[in-house]
Amino acid sequence: MTDDLRRHSPAAERNRVAILAELQRLLPPQGLLLEIASGSGQHAAHCSAGLPGWQWQPSDFEAEALPSIRTWCAGLDRVRAPLRLDVLSPEWPGVPAQVDAVFCANMIHIAPWECCGGLMRGAARHLSPQGVLITYGPYLEDGVPTTPGNLGFDVDLRLRNAGWGLRRREDVEHEAAEAGLVLRERVAMPANNLLLVWVRERSG
Ligand SMILES: C[S@@+](CC[C@H](N)C(=O)[O-])C[C@H]1O[C@@H](n2cnc3c(N)ncnc32)[C@H](O)[C@@H]1O
Repeated sequence: MTDDLRRHSPAAERNRVAILAELQRLLPPQGLLLEIASGSGQHAAHCSAGLPGWQWQPSDFEAEALPSIRTWCAGLDRVRAPLRLDVLSPEWPGVPAQVDAVFCANMIHIAPWECCGGLMRGAARHLSPQGVLITYGPYLEDGVPTTPGNLGFDVDLRLRNAGWGLRRREDVEHEAAEAGLVLRERVAMPANNLLLVWVRERSG
């Protein structure tokens, strides 16, 4: 019997359809997308299949995640072999000099805060002039009441790891600005998540 190395994220199973619909709306017909923090690999498998003009480069910090990504994406010829990638490293070895999009779901609040800046700086280093960074997940926002569900999630995350927790969108915008990126679009997603689209300050 062959071991099934696939990890299963119930959240990724739930949100992949809505995320793909937004990627299809936002992205041009073709390009190369770098996924940061691919986790199980479910987004890579599902979303790459719905973007026929795109090459998909998955990655994750955890070496143990890579076999799951590989297995979910086995046989998908537009998905490249997953890279081991730590957003905090000053260079991202193996990542092509220019990519057309960077996609990162659910890392900013489930990783140390420094990872947000690392993501922004790395995306700014690798994005093509018209490229987009797309982040997905729950955020806190000034002037927007936080739902009880997101408040409870924040408490739960901080109990699990003191370095984790929902981030203020405004703080994320500050990190982006330091890297030369600005928020172009905010999309409300199911279950009180946001999909945020970041571009270069002077992308025109
Ligand atoms: C909650 S999971 C999200 C996985 C997937 N994107 C999803 O939405 O199902 C958070 C991911 O962030 C990754 N991560 C944590 N620290 C990281 C870092 N320094 N660089 C890159 N990825 C990191 C973890 O390995 C994990 O796969």
